[in-house]
Amino acid sequence: MKRIVKTTTNTINTATAHRDNTSIMALSISGRTRTILKQSLKYLTFLCFIGLLILSSCDMKPRVGFLMDSLEIERWNKDKALFEEKVKELGGVSMVAVADSDPDKQLEQAQQMIDDGVDVLVVVPVDLEKAGEIVKLAHQNYVPVISYDRLIKDCNLDYYVSTDNINIGELQANYLTKIAPVGNYVLISGPRSDHNAYLLRLGWMNVLQPLIDKGDVNVVLDEFSDFWLPDEAYRILSQYFKDKNEVDAIICGNDALASGAIQALKEHQKDGKVLLAGQDADIQAVRNIVAGNQTITIYKPIESLAFAAANAAIKISDGEAPSNMNITVNNGKRLVPAILLQASVVNSQNIKMTVIQEGYIGEQEIFN
Ligand code: GAL
Repeated sequence: MKRIVKTTTNTINTATAHRDNTSIMALSISGRTRTILKQSLKYLTFLCFIGLLILSSCDMKPRVGFLMDSLEIERWNKDKALFEEKVKELGGVSMVAVADSDPDKQLEQAQQMIDDGVDVLVVVPVDLEKAGEIVKLAHQNYVPVISYDRLIKDCNLDYYVSTDNINIGELQANYLTKIAPVGNYVLISGPRSDHNAYLLRLGWMNVLQPLIDKGDVNVVLDEFSDFWLPDEAYRILSQYFKDKNEVDAIICGNDALASGAIQALKEHQKDGKVLLAGQDADIQAVRNIVAGNQTITIYKPIESLAFAAANAAIKISDGEAPSNMNITVNNGKRLVPAILLQASVVNSQNIKMTVIQEGYIGEQEIFN
C-alpha cells in the first residue's frame, strides 16, 4: 500500500519533477525562442524596410528637367507640350522651367532642379557660353545634360539634339537665289548668344559666296539682331531704309524677324515685292506666305525633335546609352554625340503637304 502510495507519490513526484523540468525547459526554450523571435523580427523588419526601399525605388519615375529660354516664340510652346507628352508616355516625370531670356535665371533654375533630384537635364540655352556653367554644375552633381535645339559651347556637354541648322540656312538661300540669282540681299541673323544664328548664316554664305564672287549677288546689309524678335528686324531694316533703298531679297533667321521685316517693308511700300525667307513655320508666317508677303518659311520637325530628346533623357535616366546619336558635333571642347534632324521648305504650293499634313498647323488656322 505504502509502496504503492510511495510509488504513487514517487510517481507523482517524478511526474511533478518531470512537469517542473518540462516547464523549466519550456520556459528556457520559450526564452531562447523569444530571443530568436525577437532577432528574426528585427531581421524581418530590416528586410521589409530594404524590400520597401527597393520597391519604392523601382517605382520611382525618371525625373527629367527641361530648361527653356522663353515661350515668346510660338514654336517653343509646341516643343514644351510635345516634350512633356513624350516623357510622360515613356514613364517619366518632366519638370519645366522657363528663364525668360535671362541666363542667370536659367542657372538658378538648373540649381533648383538639381536640388529637387532631377536625373537628367535637357537645356535650351539662353546663352551659348554661359550655359556651360549649367553643364559644370550638373556634372558636379552627376546629372548629365542634353542640349536641345541650340548647342552649348566650350564645355563637356553630354548630348545634343537638334536640326541641321547649316542645312536650314542653305535651304533658305538656295530657294531665294533660284528665284533671284542676281540682286541685292539683306541678311538678318538671330542673336550672337545663340549658336544657331551663326550656323544659319554659315548656310546662307555657303550658297551666296559663289554668287557674290561672280558679282551676281550683292549683300547690302548683314546684321545680327539682339533678340529673335520682330522689333529687331524692324529696327535694322528701318535704319537701312533711311538712306538706302535697294533690296531684292531678305533672309531672316526666323519668322519673328521676318514679320518685323514685313512691317518695315510695308512702311516703304515694298511688301510683297521683295523675296523673304524665315524659319519656324509660325502660323502668322504661313498666313503671310498665303497673302504673298513672305516667300518661304522652314518647317522643323518639332515633334521628332521633342520625342528624340525625351527618348534620350529617359534612356540616360535608366542608365542606358541613348540610341540614334549617330553623329558628333564639335562644341569647341569636345565632340558631342548628336542627333541632327532634317528640316523642309514651306512655300505657297506645299502648305497642305507639309505643315497641315504633319498636323503641325490646322488648315482652319491658316485659311480662315
Ligand atoms: C533658335 C531656333 C529657331 C527660333 C529661335 C527663336 O535657336 O533655332 O528655330 O525658334 O531660336 O527662339
